[in-house]
Amino acid sequence: MKSAEIRQKFLDFFAQKGHQVVSSSSLIPANDPTILFTNAGMNQFKDVFLGFDKRAYNRAASSQKCVRAGGKHNDLENVGYTARHHTFFEMLGNFSFGDYFKRDAIVYAWEFLTTPAGLNLPKEKLWVTIYAEDDEAFDIWHEVIGLAPERIIRIGDNKGAEYASDNFWAMGDTGPCGPCTEIFYDHGAHIAGGLPGSPDEDGDRYIEIWNNVFMQFNRDENGVMHPLPKPSVDTGMGLERVSAVMQHVNSNYEIDLFVELLKAAAKATGVEYNQTTPSLKVIADHIRACAFLIADGALPSNDGRGYVLRRIIRRAIRHGYKLGQKGLFFHKLVATLADVMGDAYPELRSRQAHIEDALKLEEELFGKTVNHGMELLEQALAGGKTVLDGATAFKLADTYGFPIDLTADICRERGLSVDMEGFEAALEAQRQQSKAAGQFKMAAGLAYEGSASHFHGYSETSYEATVLALYKGSEQVSELKTGDEGVVVLDHTPFYAESGGQCGDVGEIFAAGGLDTLFDVTDTQKVKADVFGHQGKLARGSLKVGDSVTASIDLHKRIATTRNHSATHLLHAALREVLGTHVEQKGSLVTWERTRFDFSHPKAVTAEEIAKVEQLVNHVILHNKPLAIALMSYDDAIKAGAMALFGEKYGDEVRVVKMGDFSTELCGGTHVAHTGDIGFFKIIAEGGVAAGIRRIEAVTGEGALALVQGMEREIKDALAAAQAQPGELVAKVGRIQDQVKTLEKELARLKAKLAASQGDEIASQAVEINGVKVLAAQMEGADTAALRETLDKLKDKLKTAAIVLASVTDGKVALIAGVTADTTGKIKAGELVNFVAQQVGGKGGGRPDMAQAGGTQPENLSAALDGVAGWVAGKL
Ligand code: ALA
Repeated sequence: MKSAEIRQKFLDFFAQKGHQVVSSSSLIPANDPTILFTNAGMNQFKDVFLGFDKRAYNRAASSQKCVRAGGKHNDLENVGYTARHHTFFEMLGNFSFGDYFKRDAIVYAWEFLTTPAGLNLPKEKLWVTIYAEDDEAFDIWHEVIGLAPERIIRIGDNKGAEYASDNFWAMGDTGPCGPCTEIFYDHGAHIAGGLPGSPDEDGDRYIEIWNNVFMQFNRDENGVMHPLPKPSVDTGMGLERVSAVMQHVNSNYEIDLFVELLKAAAKATGVEYNQTTPSLKVIADHIRACAFLIADGALPSNDGRGYVLRRIIRRAIRHGYKLGQKGLFFHKLVATLADVMGDAYPELRSRQAHIEDALKLEEELFGKTVNHGMELLEQALAGGKTVLDGATAFKLADTYGFPIDLTADICRERGLSVDMEGFEAALEAQRQQSKAAGQFKMAAGLAYEGSASHFHGYSETSYEATVLALYKGSEQVSELKTGDEGVVVLDHTPFYAESGGQCGDVGEIFAAGGLDTLFDVTDTQKVKADVFGHQGKLARGSLKVGDSVTASIDLHKRIATTRNHSATHLLHAALREVLGTHVEQKGSLVTWERTRFDFSHPKAVTAEEIAKVEQLVNHVILHNKPLAIALMSYDDAIKAGAMALFGEKYGDEVRVVKMGDFSTELCGGTHVAHTGDIGFFKIIAEGGVAAGIRRIEAVTGEGALALVQGMEREIKDALAAAQAQPGELVAKVGRIQDQVKTLEKELARLKAKLAASQGDEIASQAVEINGVKVLAAQMEGADTAALRETLDKLKDKLKTAAIVLASVTDGKVALIAGVTADTTGKIKAGELVNFVAQQVGGKGGGRPDMAQAGGTQPENLSAALDGVAGWVAGKL
């Protein structure tokens, strides 16, 4: 039975039993930072189990895309070496949300497995495990199903702590969990392996095919188990494993879903197709995880999910390398995957080009260093070492992009280990170094004990306040005097402190109208969460703790910043519309001068795409939509479609900034009232900042006007310089370039002519030593091409010769040496050229008959050339 049929049969069976068939959720969990990737069918129902969410149904069934690589459930290292582990797999599951419980779950599972309505497997092939204390499950298996007691194996807390058991399932360190019963299939005595709970349980004979979890608890951060509102059921059957059973093969890699992939992997790496080559299995497995992850919006990067993806891709590339494929190959497998799985998962087809691009880029990136890394590793392991030292492992990671588990993987294959402590120590040393280098410019780290500042800057530009604390430099003082630089903390302030990418406000703090006391604020940063530090210099007077002052922002700069900030939201939304929803914000910096926005995207943004984004943003600006800013709960905000940043911590109440239907974001920054206030929006630069991360810089309002005026000025200057009329510039520059090309050709011809005539003259300077004509000469005004040409002519002319030619241009020496083929046995051109080069402060190299070098000391050239004849004589 084909995998596709099994998938359908399962869903139909449970639909008939009153289950709502639900599609697979994305591999990137929506708004659940407790897991890296979707790792089980129940993930999308987590809140339903916890009682936070309600659905229109209380029974569901699905076939869910899962990735288990990184995080609590991590099978990465086993992939390729067992018959049944994958990074990506499909999980068939049925779920009850407070409806049926243990008895029906077990009865349904047994019916599906053993009757013609389902898979019709022979009962005697099936074994089950239960949680040791779960007598209720035992009774159901024994009394209702009729399974003999010896086929029901009790497994206790076999993983070293309470509830740490193969038969107690938890989605993550926190969240829904409960005891489970697992069903095993016996692949037969010809396969090595023992029953679950036995010492040989890791063999491939008895394979778990279906886990039925009785969801009963919610585990909190402290490990405390809280009973769920209603006992529920969560089951998971690995489609690949059950397909192996139905297709009468022992290894998942022999099922229909894998055969084509393995063949494609063999073709792409240029090896013979074979179902048991571990490297081919690794590649076939990894292309599934990588392609599905990228289809769902992930991209390789240096942290979080992106890093796990990068590790999987690089592991696949390394296995290709191991098979002898040193070129790009991995992305070529996407087409086959789309053929095999595209019917069930259409995203593979619709995003095929994007997936291929992203993988190819990563292959190119890693391809540049993998060779050198492997060489370094080989050197470090030479001489029968059994442990790879930590410093090398760190260098491999830091310089050559070898994730540490990849290095460990390579070592493990050879029966070696990695000094992990040494690696961690090197990593920590680097962390400390970069921390020291990247110290915050100010306030963070100031000692402050006192009340918070109240921020009024969303509506006010000036505010009466009292000085709460003062710092001269970073030292807390009670008074600042004229000329002192430091930080002022106020009880009330309209100054926005840098956060969420928006820069801090600048402005003034003054007393008595500023005539007596004036503090110039050049930046505002948070000293602590709610404590605002105004950094700057006391220009006049003195300022004491307790003084009454007026704090007033530089409105012009603030408005410009605000325009840029609102435009950033529009830019973000426009990028997602033009490039795709894989675009995610990776960083931003908004100042009064410009906005800088970093985002995930695997390749350069084309000029047309930039133009489209500009059009879209300006379109929304011209529609002059009012901004709606509201405070609401985080959940409501997400429900309203607000974009939140993964990894960012948000409070219970969040600020939602909405611009028409175009953009909704969580944001604490300052914004315009209507999109029209932004004025003209113009992108000024696009480039890459890291693998898969692009950066766009843009200007708005007066900044955009200044940009356009600057461009106009430049065009006018260019017109004047080219002596062209408006509209003619391009044609005129084209003509000038043609002229330059003609002149260059003419010049080259003249130089060659000059060289040739010098060549004839120079030939006469050759001296004969033991039958070899030796010549060392300087040529006036010759470039390397002319030197080479003259050398060839001289070799032809002198027949048996050793020649060095030199020229000096701009204080630099160019050298070329040539030895005719009949003489290279005695004199090597490389040695000859270096004999001269080392005397003029240089070094060079080349073939035995021709070599080139450079030098920086023309003053020594003449003496060096004079020495050539003697040096050659010594060799003959
Ligand atoms: N959620 C359970 C598992 O993944 C069914 O094994």
